[in-house]
Amino acid sequence: MRVLVIHGPNLNLLGERQPEIYGSTSLAEVNELIAVSAKDLGVSVDCVQHNGEGEIIDAIHNARGSYDGVVVNPGAYSHYSYAIADAIASVQIPIVEVHLSNIAGRETHRRVSVTAASCIGSISGFGTLSYVLAIRVLAQKAEK
Ligand code: DQA
Repeated sequence: MRVLVIHGPNLNLLGERQPEIYGSTSLAEVNELIAVSAKDLGVSVDCVQHNGEGEIIDAIHNARGSYDGVVVNPGAYSHYSYAIADAIASVQIPIVEVHLSNIAGRETHRRVSVTAASCIGSISGFGTLSYVLAIRVLAQKAEK
């Protein structure tokens, strides 16, 4: 099984960006943790990071035919990007949305995700574990 992990805007600054909210783990370290747990599950994983909305949309489109599942953290786009929501809805690949922080417990503008509605589900609030859990979900679904 092949899974693509897409990190959205500002997540390249993980580790230095508001560590009290997003933790002190860098994106490279997050990707390493993802790779280790994916390997345990027999999943082959690629991780990319894009700051631009169009780049995220392209990554979702280009996953067609190459990946069996996608994990996406659309960052702030989650709260208003109908274009990313449409991209997720346009492909036949199971997509899980993740957030490091618990968006339901944050500022009002972060409590709604317009992109999560197009996904098979979302996981929010568990830091790096959110990604690990999402890959687990996709691996388990693929087995059935
Ligand atoms: C985030 C939550 C978003 O509200 C924020 O804009 C991010 C990160 C998270 O992973 O907790 O960039 O997606």
